[in-house]
This record gives sequence, C-alpha cells and structure tokens, in this order.
Amino acid sequence: MSKQPPKDKKNPFLEQMERQKRIKERMAKIKYKIAVLSGKGGVGKTTVAVNLAYTLAIRGYKVGLLDADIYGPDVPIALGINKKFPEGSEEGIEPILGPLNIRTMSLQYLLERDYDPVIWMGPLVVKAIQQLLSDVNWGELDYLIIDLPPGTGDEVLGIIKSIEDLTGLVVVVTPQKIAVSDARKAIAMAKIVKVPIIGVIENMRGFICPHCGKITYIFGKGGGEKAAKEFNIEFLGWLPLDVRIMEWTDEGKPFVAEENTELHTRFIEIVSKIEKRVEKISKELSKKVKNTETKNNTLFRAKK
Ligand SMILES: Nc1ncnc2c1ncn2[C@@H]1O[C@H](COP(=O)(O)OP(=O)(O)OP(=O)(O)O)[C@@H](O)[C@H]1O
Ligand SMILES: [Mg+2]
Repeated sequence: MSKQPPKDKKNPFLEQMERQKRIKERMAKIKYKIAVLSGKGGVGKTTVAVNLAYTLAIRGYKVGLLDADIYGPDVPIALGINKKFPEGSEEGIEPILGPLNIRTMSLQYLLERDYDPVIWMGPLVVKAIQQLLSDVNWGELDYLIIDLPPGTGDEVLGIIKSIEDLTGLVVVVTPQKIAVSDARKAIAMAKIVKVPIIGVIENMRGFICPHCGKITYIFGKGGGEKAAKEFNIEFLGWLPLDVRIMEWTDEGKPFVAEENTELHTRFIEIVSKIEKRVEKISKELSKKVKNTETKNNTLFRAKK
C-alpha cells in the first residue's frame, strides 16, 4: 500500500502555486513594476531605488518600495524610517508609510534588533520575498520599485521571475572595468530571462572635491555608457561620487530632496527618461498581448 502524506501537511507545490496566484493578483493592481539590479554589491542600487521612488512620489505618483535585499535591508535607513513590526489587516500586512506616503516593506521591519543577521539559504530568501509580494497590502499603485540583493545569483533570478509582468530592470553600474564586466553579466541575464531593460545608470563617475569642486575620475568614466551601447540599451545618465550622497543617505534623506543642486537636476533627468521608457515598454507589451489575442481568436475561428 502506498504511503499517504499526513493530512495536516501542506503540499509545497500547491502552496507555491497559490502564492504565485496571490502575487499575480496584487501585482495586477500596480501599473509599473521596476527592479533595480547590479552585477555587484555596493554600487548604489539602494541609493537609486530610494531616490527613484522619492522622485516619482514628488511627481504625484502613488509609489511603493520593496526592499528585497534580505541580507542588507537598507531601505528603512535610507528613508529615515524607524518604525518596526508592520500591522496586519484583512487585506494583508500593511506597508509602513515613508516620506511622501511611499509604501515601504523591508525585512528590517521584522527583525527584533537592527543588527540581527539573516542567515537563510537561497530558496528561503526567494520564498520570503515572494511572501512580501503576495501578502503585503500594496493596494493600487502607479509604481512599485524593488531594490534587489546584489549580483545575479539564484536569489535575484528567483525574485525577478516571481513577478510575471515586471515592467523592466534598471541596471546600476560603476565605471571601472571589473564592475562593468559584472554589469554585462546582469544585462545578459536580463536578456536570457526576457525581462525588458529600462536602461543603465553609471554611478560614482568622478569624485567632486568638496573643497575646490575639481572632479577626479577615481574609478574611470564611461564604462556603464559603453556597456549600454554594446547591448543596445538606453543609457539613462550618470551620477558623480559625491560625499553628500553618502552623508544624506546615512541621515535618511534622499539626495534628490535637496533642490538647486546638480545632483537633483541630474537625477530628475534620469527619472524623466525612466518614465518615458516605461510607458514605451508597456505600450509595446500591450500591443504584443493584443496581437497574440487576435492570432488566437483567428485560429479558434478557423478551427470552428
Ligand atoms: N554617487 C555616490 N556618491 C557617494 N556615495 C554614494 C554614491 N552612491 C552610493 N553611495 C554610498 O555608497 C554606499 C553604497 O551604496 P548603496 O547602499 O546604494 O549600494 P548598494 O548597491 O545598494 O549596496 P548593496 O549591494 O550592499 O545593497 C552607501 O553608503 C551610499 O550612501
Ligand atoms: Mg542595497
């Protein structure tokens, strides 16, 4: 006689399917979903994700920000959020509201102490992020920005693949050769999984001396721009290595909030390009869906 699984034990396959269905339902209420990716760590993903969310919120959009970096969940620090333990409601886990009503969720909110490390294996990490996607009450949003963990490993891939209708990826690169070579891998990965690439941002191009204003290209320049050209994707712009970015981030203030700075102007231009690209990608996608539907209908009629 074959052994039956215990009645109270859930079938993990069914559980995963149910989770995926819930993610689909939640994501259907969000117009654009953008993930911020890089080939390696410490290049400025969180900085870009936070400032992107903030700029879009300034522009009047309803914005959510998911900190998907389980190992170094920095979003709450970068947005100056000290709250913890999100509340539950009938609709799910309630996101914690950041500045400009940005709806945020981070594993950091669930840790007892800020310095508690998360020691999980890859599949658990993906499952945890999937739960944040499926169980958080994101509501109706214009944009959901996802700050990914570093690299192009299983975890990043798993998270990207959890959102079927991900609008696209923003790739952050620093200019030096090693970083660009990692970024190439990230771009290649996006092409393999067939997720649209919104464009590349080159961060830390040139150091602006706070005393004399002179610019020194510590990490070189143009690496990100070159990689974008090579893969025929849009170059969104660049940001200098500016000590104020680091200081403001530590204070929990997005650098874009400081108007009348070159940094502000630069980033606003980058976001305008992202807005245009995202609209274009969405239009192309809906055209494709319509074409497939028409094709299927014609086939169906022909069969009849
Ligand atoms: N252009 C910049 N000028 C100065 N400091 C910067 C710049 N961009 C980012 N930083 C600082 O560099 C550090 C790393 O940036 P950030 O946390 O955004 O990188 P990350 O890619 O998210 O890192 P991780 O892979 O660890 O998640 C932070 O202290 C941030 O404030
Ligand atoms: Mg980060």
